[in-house]
Amino acid sequence: MKLFIDTANLDHIREAASWGILDGCTTNPSLMAKEGRDFAETIAEICDIVQGPVSAEVVAQDTEGMLREARLVRQISEHVVVKLPMSWAGIAACRVLSDEDTRTNVTLVFSVNQAILAAKAGATYVSPFIGRIDDQGNDGMGVLSDIITTFNNYYFETEVLAASIRHQSHVLDAVRLGSHVATMPYTVMKKMIQHPLTDKGNEGFLRDWATVPGDGIEATVNEFLSRRDKAAS
Ligand code: E4P
Repeated sequence: MKLFIDTANLDHIREAASWGILDGCTTNPSLMAKEGRDFAETIAEICDIVQGPVSAEVVAQDTEGMLREARLVRQISEHVVVKLPMSWAGIAACRVLSDEDTRTNVTLVFSVNQAILAAKAGATYVSPFIGRIDDQGNDGMGVLSDIITTFNNYYFETEVLAASIRHQSHVLDAVRLGSHVATMPYTVMKKMIQHPLTDKGNEGFLRDWATVPGDGIEATVNEFLSRRDKAAS
C-alpha cells in the first residue's frame, strides 16, 4: 500500500517526507493554482523532496498537445509521472507515452469502463475520484472495489490510485479493498496517526515514568555504560 500526498504545497510535502512514510505525490492544475508558483520549478522541487513518483498534469486537450507537454514535463525529473485526463485524446496520448516507457496517471476516472480504457492504454496508474463520486450521491468505494476486482480478474498491471480522498475512513476503506495507492490531502495524512487511546496511554506512561528513580534515560544509561566500562577495564 503506497501513501501519496495530494498537494503542491512544498511545506506540507517537506513535512510529510520528513515522517519517512511518503511514497509519492499527486498534483493537479487546481492544486498548482492554489500555490501561485511557477509550474516547472514547483514540480522540480517536489521531485527533489519526494524522490518517488510525482504526478504532473498536462492541460492540452488534444493528443498532440498532450504529447508535446508530456515530453517536456518528463524532462524535469526522472520522478515525473505524466497525468492525463480521461478522454479519448488522453487515452490515445497514454498509449503513445506508455510505448515510450513514460509513466502515466490517468485522472478524473469515475467508472469501471473508464478505468478499463486507461489500463488497456498501458497507464501506470488510474485515479478513481472517490470523494467526488460520493458527492454525487453515488458509491465511491463501490466503484473503487469494482475497478480493483476487474484489474485482478484480468491481471492488468495498472495500479489503482484511490484519489479525491476526504477523510481517514476513505483511507481505511481503500486499504481494505486492496488499492495499490491512496493519495490524500496533507490534513488527512496528518490525522492518520491520531487515536485518543494513544494520547491517553502516552500520558499515563509519562505520569508513571516521573516516579522512576534517576535523571532520565540519557543520564541513567550514560552512567550505567561508564560503570560497566570501568568494571570491564
Ligand atoms: C488526484 O490526483 C486529484 O488531485 C485529487 O485527489 C482530487 O481531489 P479533490 O476531489 O479533493 O479535488
